[in-house]
Amino acid sequence: MSWQQRARALADDLTALGALDLAWREAFEQVPRHVFVPRFYQPDGTLIEGADPDARDEWLDAVYRDDSLTTQRLVEPGSGRIVPTSSSTRPSLMALMLRMLDVRDGHSVLEIGTGTGYNAALLAYRLGDHRVTSIDIDPDLVEAARIAAHRIGLAPYLVAGEGDKGVPERAPFDRVLATCAVPTIPTQWVAQLADRGIIVADLRAATSSSLVTLHRTAEGIATGRFHPTPGYFMWLRPRADDPRRDEQESNFIYDHTASRHSTTWLDPALLAEPGLGLMVAASVPDLIQSVTFADPLTYGLRARDGSWAKVDKDSNDVVQSGQRSVWNEIEAAALHWERLGRPEPSRFGLTVSTDNGQQVWFDDPDGHQVRVQESETNWGCDVRSHVVSDDVEEVG
Ligand SMILES: C[S@@+](CC[C@H](N)C(=O)[O-])C[C@H]1O[C@@H](n2cnc3c(N)ncnc32)[C@H](O)[C@@H]1O
Repeated sequence: MSWQQRARALADDLTALGALDLAWREAFEQVPRHVFVPRFYQPDGTLIEGADPDARDEWLDAVYRDDSLTTQRLVEPGSGRIVPTSSSTRPSLMALMLRMLDVRDGHSVLEIGTGTGYNAALLAYRLGDHRVTSIDIDPDLVEAARIAAHRIGLAPYLVAGEGDKGVPERAPFDRVLATCAVPTIPTQWVAQLADRGIIVADLRAATSSSLVTLHRTAEGIATGRFHPTPGYFMWLRPRADDPRRDEQESNFIYDHTASRHSTTWLDPALLAEPGLGLMVAASVPDLIQSVTFADPLTYGLRARDGSWAKVDKDSNDVVQSGQRSVWNEIEAAALHWERLGRPEPSRFGLTVSTDNGQQVWFDDPDGHQVRVQESETNWGCDVRSHVVSDDVEEVG
């Protein structure tokens, strides 16, 4: 099967799923994803090279499936863990975010996280090269993306730099699309937004990953609701050669003073509910990590000050330690969420202001705020949320 047939079949699948808008269909059929993904890592770390004749069919099949493909991995200083740092996003998620972005012909778009360059190429195919700007922290990725785009006759404006600063020399933008996750929306994205502009981003925390659409409502202010679908994007990180989103992370300690034992009525599995995850992210400050351990099946949480909690998923036994009773705070957020009738993420919204930071609200932007977030760190900064590990000692 040729790549064109594969691309058409994928576009058919995405259309049948209801993921792909007609306006984007031609771009998905005509822009060859395989040019931007010459190789990728399988989940077990095996590298699949398109140039290897023996691997060619496996490579092409994967590239034209609705899957995210890891294209770069780095070693984490300290732990030595290998962490994915770039990928080609799952096509249905890209299509969803392009729909949320409500791109119209003539719009200028800023993408944060060039990665392979495939998404920038889709945008350039539809809108024209000069309307598309994309930035990545890693100059090597930007160069590879530029070469791939040129191979198919496209030349969006690609630049290496810190994505949270935006690209002021190309502003204002009608649309800003972030394909790496952030704990708070950088105010530069709002500042660089044109009149009636829209931002789509993945706001992540220890217990949640929430796509959000923000509309510019006034100079320096953007507001909008969360989407039910999580993004689980890689973190926006400060350095190209370091996979961590926070260099301080390795220095965080566990506070083992004053361990307390109890049992809980709250099933930790409920935290996988996007609505509860979002409620916790918005109302329990400074959680930095959530981990699921395999044996025994245990859920762990850690706060910035070193306080931690561990819950046995079978017995519901809880151990907490440190200054804060982290699990009690989670229970209080869960109780609040239950009383509100277990709301979905779309009942919550976010307002970002270049002067006042960000606030999460419930139902009505002018109404009840779940919590006014006083600091940059309040939304948490887990690097390894939802990691499954056998190493129970890590949290205890
Ligand atoms: C999921 S990938 C993006 C996928 C990409 N849009 C595509 O179509 O292939 C996330 C990207 O964000 C980039 N990134 C991480 N931190 C960044 C930062 N501070 N500024 C800009 N890009 C960053 C990573 O290097 C990585 O390439």
